[in-house]
Amino acid sequence: MSYRDLRPQAEADFDEFLGTLERALIDGKRNPNDVVRDTLYELYYGAGQLGQKSGSAPDPSSLSPSARVVLHSFDPRNVTTEPEYYTDIDAAAYAERKPFIWLWQMYDRSPIGQNAFLGHRFRRMLAPLVFRRVGENFKCWHFVEWSYGYNLSFGDNVVVHRYVLLDDRGGIEIGNNVSISDYANIYSHTHDVEDIHKVYNLTTRIGDGARITYHATVLAGTQVGAHAMVGTGAVATKDVEPYHIKVGIPAKTVKIKQGAAAHAFDDEDEVKRISER
Ligand SMILES: CC(C)(COP(=O)(O)OP(=O)(O)OC[C@H]1O[C@@H](n2cnc3c(N)ncnc32)[C@H](O)[C@@H]1OP(=O)(O)O)[C@@H](O)C(=O)NCCC(=O)NCCS
Repeated sequence: MSYRDLRPQAEADFDEFLGTLERALIDGKRNPNDVVRDTLYELYYGAGQLGQKSGSAPDPSSLSPSARVVLHSFDPRNVTTEPEYYTDIDAAAYAERKPFIWLWQMYDRSPIGQNAFLGHRFRRMLAPLVFRRVGENFKCWHFVEWSYGYNLSFGDNVVVHRYVLLDDRGGIEIGNNVSISDYANIYSHTHDVEDIHKVYNLTTRIGDGARITYHATVLAGTQVGAHAMVGTGAVATKDVEPYHIKVGIPAKTVKIKQGAAAHAFDDEDEVKRISER
């Protein structure tokens, strides 16, 4: 899928902002939590007065309780997130990336969070600090959520659209050239039906060139084969064979892409039968 190449006039200022922020987050001179707290203050309240080089937060003691709560919540150290409550969390691995995760989530909700041009670059800058692996040309739209981040890997040229949930509790491995459409959900943990406290973490894999389309759900441990497609609103409860297009709940094969002909499958009869429909 190709996109139009849009270039806002303020591109140079956007680049300067991102370059300065990236250096501040990783050069080790300041605690990243402080950098995130101050950056969020500026993103939400601006620089205070026009012409002022940098915004500085007011003394909290002079503020109302609600204003103090807002200021405190810019600091990742004053925030808890849902995954932090899970007992299987690697707390050290999460803590390392938590400032970057909080910056990402609060950026999306900030006054500039819907600026797609800036947002793609902002998230591309943060992604390697959050996820286990990120390939080239990662493109992510707004309001995407995940669990830990450290169990999530992306190949090259992956696009993740709006409101996607990537639950990487048991691990999600996403291949090259994968597209994940709006409101899709990919899970990698599930709970025992008899005992909700028993959690099963199962790695979910999305093969090269696969597409998880609008509002589709992929359940924990599912292996989606290369170039497969999970149709709109489908729930993939079992593995999806390469090149298969599956729809419905539970997802069943309705078609096999033509590209499949070039590849060998275990069940040639099934491929033939479905191809002839
Ligand atoms: C799965 C999908 C790709 C199938 O498209 P298609 O190859 O043109 O297939 P058809 O429209 O011929 O549908 C084949 C059959 O499956 C049914 N079907 C198609 N999509 C369905 C879906 N999401 N859920 C349930 N049934 C579906 C059709 O009604 C048709 O049934 P019929 O044979 O009884 O008439 C498409 O419906 C879909 O879900 N697209 C998602 C949107 C998309 O492409 N997003 C891309 C973002 S990267």
